[in-house]
Amino acid sequence: MAASCVSLLAVVVLFFCLSAHAVDRSNFKTCDQSSFCKRQRELKPGQSPYRALLDTLELSNSRLTLQLINDNNKVRLLLELYRLQGNMTRLKINELKPLKPRYEVPDVLMADPLTEPLSVVVQDENGLVLSLGGAEQRLILNARPFRLDIIEGPQVLMSVNSRGLLAFEHLRARKDTISHKISSTVGSMWNSLNSIFSSKSESDSEETAGQENVGQQIDEIIEDEEKPGMWEEVFKTHSDSKPDGPSSISLDFSLPGVEHIYGIPEHADTLKLKNTDGSDPYRLYNLDVFQYELHNPMALYGSVPVLISHSTERTMGVFWLNAAETWVDISTSSAGQTMFGKMLDFVPGSSEAPQTDVRWMSESGIIDVFIMLGPKPTDVFTQYASLTGTQSFPPLSALAYHQCRWNYNDQEDVRAVDQGFDEHDIPYDFIWLDIEHTDGKRYFTWDPSNFPQPKDMLQGLMDKRRKLVAIVDPHIKVDSDYKIHSEIRSKNLYVKNKDGGDYEGWCWPGNAGYPDFTNPDMRAWWSSMFAYDQYEGSMENQYIWNDMNEPSVFNGPEVTMHKDALHGVWEHRDVHNLYGLYVQKATADGLIQRSGGVERPFVLTRAVFAGSQRYGAVWTGDNAAEWGHLKISIPMCLSLGIVGISFCGADVGGFFKHPSTELLVRWYQAGAYQPFFRAHAHLDTPRREPWLFGPENTALIREAIRQRYALLPYWYQLFYNTHHTGQPVMRPLWVEYPEDVATFAIEDEYLLGKDLLVHPVTDEGAKGVTVYLPGKHEVWFDVHTFEKHDGAQSLYLPVAMSSIPVFQRGGSIICRKDRIRRSSSCMESDPYTLYVALSSQASAEGELYIDDFHSFNYEKKEFIHRRLSFSDGTLTSRNVAPDSQFSTSSWIEKIVIIGGVQQSSVTLTTADGAETALEFEFDSETAVLTLRKPGVNAGADWSVRLR
Ligand code: NOJ
Repeated sequence: MAASCVSLLAVVVLFFCLSAHAVDRSNFKTCDQSSFCKRQRELKPGQSPYRALLDTLELSNSRLTLQLINDNNKVRLLLELYRLQGNMTRLKINELKPLKPRYEVPDVLMADPLTEPLSVVVQDENGLVLSLGGAEQRLILNARPFRLDIIEGPQVLMSVNSRGLLAFEHLRARKDTISHKISSTVGSMWNSLNSIFSSKSESDSEETAGQENVGQQIDEIIEDEEKPGMWEEVFKTHSDSKPDGPSSISLDFSLPGVEHIYGIPEHADTLKLKNTDGSDPYRLYNLDVFQYELHNPMALYGSVPVLISHSTERTMGVFWLNAAETWVDISTSSAGQTMFGKMLDFVPGSSEAPQTDVRWMSESGIIDVFIMLGPKPTDVFTQYASLTGTQSFPPLSALAYHQCRWNYNDQEDVRAVDQGFDEHDIPYDFIWLDIEHTDGKRYFTWDPSNFPQPKDMLQGLMDKRRKLVAIVDPHIKVDSDYKIHSEIRSKNLYVKNKDGGDYEGWCWPGNAGYPDFTNPDMRAWWSSMFAYDQYEGSMENQYIWNDMNEPSVFNGPEVTMHKDALHGVWEHRDVHNLYGLYVQKATADGLIQRSGGVERPFVLTRAVFAGSQRYGAVWTGDNAAEWGHLKISIPMCLSLGIVGISFCGADVGGFFKHPSTELLVRWYQAGAYQPFFRAHAHLDTPRREPWLFGPENTALIREAIRQRYALLPYWYQLFYNTHHTGQPVMRPLWVEYPEDVATFAIEDEYLLGKDLLVHPVTDEGAKGVTVYLPGKHEVWFDVHTFEKHDGAQSLYLPVAMSSIPVFQRGGSIICRKDRIRRSSSCMESDPYTLYVALSSQASAEGELYIDDFHSFNYEKKEFIHRRLSFSDGTLTSRNVAPDSQFSTSSWIEKIVIIGGVQQSSVTLTTADGAETALEFEFDSETAVLTLRKPGVNAGADWSVRLR
């Protein structure tokens, strides 16, 4: 196993094979080392130099434009404001006349967002008030200094640039270039122009845009101090040539009344974001961070620039659509400490109110912000989903258990592991092959000695209704005999270095090229490579894993691509955080195309951006077999979930190091209740298939995986719902209990949908856990013992090694399949058991969703969607999609009524009106009433009456 490491270049060996204990921070920039972050952070809150030029205002039906001028340097910006459908406001700011176009992020928004009319309510020389439509919302634009306040009735919801931190480093020619040009070409014109412009008075500052362009550059020369890193930046041995010079942008947002703020994954940090006063800002820059540390704001593999604020009054979001390196400062002041004096004008008595100030800083691009005004958490999720789309609907099998390690060595290994699962009666759906399965890290190929007959291997798995995932990374071995490389090179589709040659860097194969996935031609070609006749040895039960797509470049600055590399006309600087999204998109499209558009794809990615939810699943990268890493998997996935990316998981067991048996068992128990459930391990770790830790632990792991399989119908329904609504699958408690302050910082438990509350055991040697059960009017049932607990209490629950604390909300109905088989697809036609947990009013509601579990036919209405309701002693199954058509052979084998009472008769009524008495039994100790064999088809109308 070590051989593959040894064969890599020395630097790679050193970097990845030595077992250090923590991240080498010196490989990654702090804000101080990132010159634009340092420059931006040196600007302190104060009066903004920007002024709105009200006489430039133009208002069409739904678009307002206005010029802003920086009174220090006379540079003009163009502000665009839109009111978007669904209670959102979009704010764009760009240079009025940039020297060259600035990058605007494509392909992330689903479409041009639909707008609503905007109207000016009042305008005078100080500013204007716009009506934002419903709920008395107004946007107040203050001209001098420029500032925006969004208010609802008397309440300020959010202010923009109230701390004066709008900063726009306009594109400019380098001083020596200009003076050289001027002295050699226009000579004395320089002096005369200079004197004309420098003698202009401030009141003259609203020149015509044409004049100003010249003036602008000259003013710069006069007043702009050159700061280090503006035109070239060196980090360690890497130099960034910065041909366009400084181009960063920044803007501040203030949220009165807000103390809790979430989102901006990916960080190995708490769910509730921390104050960054006195520390680095949270960084968003997709990076391959070796042995990442917990609880710090350093960047990780993914970046989703979406913040969500929450208070008992309101939930809102800010989506900062920018793909360049970005830093986010957060400062929350509690009651009475606010610096935000001006706000007090609007909010009587608000000196008591807390406030959160946020500042975004990006290295390039434009300011393009979507302000999502809620007001409820569900509204913010709907609003964000309307912009960037929802989680793709995975095939059912992808929600089952995945067995991975780096590496399963050969076909015989795969066969033996597969058989091991059967011998130990443990279900699994996917076995995974890491990079060693390829021919010398040439993706889309198979190692000829270890995987000589991939189709035989795949067929063997298919016979057992199981599947395989193979890794396909986006770095391509530079080898003229390798088809993938030579075609990309001949089509000229590689990313270029600053001098125009193909960009090359080191990664697993040694020297590698990086396909330019921002180019639609590259993506189309890449997609076509997944066709069965292109990807030799592949079959329809093979799916794909995209790793290292930040992109990871072992010998690049911060282990990634040089910022001055080129994607067509754009620098890597502009597109960096988008690269991984494009890789996963091209791969997912390829899997769809290879099936002629019929089959849903499954692609796992490590790097993400806003919108990545549309293309598959994500995992939290190279964690470690440590309790802290198990714990942090919860807030990390919750943070991704609330910004749209529901299909998240962490390597079960921990990637680096060898877990203790206790940790491994606890990790399986936790992972069984996280959306993406995959065990994975580093190549240097001892084997850890579930049966290698003694029969007792095998039994515990088996039980955890079996619980996952029993709940697959619920997981599937949750993913169907998130695919349609954008509501997260794994939810922080505050999402469902937005007024309960006690939930706001909870991150050791969470909800799946709204009906299951999970509090995994994540402490070594735990003898019990303290579970917070929310909701004053709720009751919760322990799913294992059926014990009933009232809501809005902290409950100490003793635990044993077999315990996975999970509670079902009273008032819900959850469908399960309790006959566990080899894989999810073996269970497709199995019968359902309905778990009806009664509320304190003895009612309950739930859903049952069924389709073919793998194709896109659900889009053609080929599915069953039923509403299950229990009230007044009657449980009914009703069709909620009358125009859909699908038939299933699954039936209802049992109904378990939790929190029930003894009955004298139970009658089933079927669609034809026929009535049958059902057998039942009541356990008075647990208050569970079990109805045996209703035997009705899961897609039929029926009701059961208890008397
Ligand atoms: C890094 C990934 O994060 C890890 O999961 C994988 O095993 C290695 N690359 C090798 O492909």
